[in-house]
Amino acid sequence: MKKIGLFYSFATDKTKRCANKIEESFNSKKFEVVAIDVNETLTEEQFLEFDNIIVGVATWFDGELPFYWDEFVPALEDMDLSKKRIAIFGLGDQVTASENFADAMGILGDLFEERGAKLIGHTATDGYIFEGSEAVRDNKFIGLALDLDNQNKLTNERIEAWVKQLEKEF
Ligand SMILES: Cc1cc2nc3c(=O)[nH]c(=O)nc-3n(C[C@H](O)[C@H](O)[C@H](O)COP(=O)(O)O)c2cc1C
Repeated sequence: MKKIGLFYSFATDKTKRCANKIEESFNSKKFEVVAIDVNETLTEEQFLEFDNIIVGVATWFDGELPFYWDEFVPALEDMDLSKKRIAIFGLGDQVTASENFADAMGILGDLFEERGAKLIGHTATDGYIFEGSEAVRDNKFIGLALDLDNQNKLTNERIEAWVKQLEKEF
């Protein structure tokens, strides 16, 4: 049984919906997914307890991290993540925020990689239309981009395909 820590804010609407769908899409005979709330009480120890990590982050404030992740950045900056595999799902709005689509996924991805983590769960940008995104490297998203504002109908199938990919990559 592989253990995965799923970190997101329990107080957000859309990120939480996606996290719940991710949790139920994993094969429960092979993976134990432990959901952990990213709020002001999240500790470094809780984050470091897992070698396999999924992180959920929406983009807010025109290309920025939501405050609940921003508050955790100082703790992250001191961590050694060299044994961690991290998959990020990022929410955004590719129509009204076309130039900053899901930027927060890229911001967290850079922080994790600079501290030695291996990012997994890269996905193609096919099927999305946007001007720019900090979350794209080598023409791929560094994780899974989800747009519940404009492409809600694609969300479940995108998550199911991503979880199948993660089951191989973790
Ligand atoms: C004030 C505000 C600013 C936003 N800025 C961005 C942005 O820069 N880039 C982006 O992709 N989405 C942006 N969005 C869209 C959100 O990321 C998107 O609606 C997301 O699904 C919200 O998820 P949540 O309910 O879990 O916070 C913004 C939304 C709001 C309300």
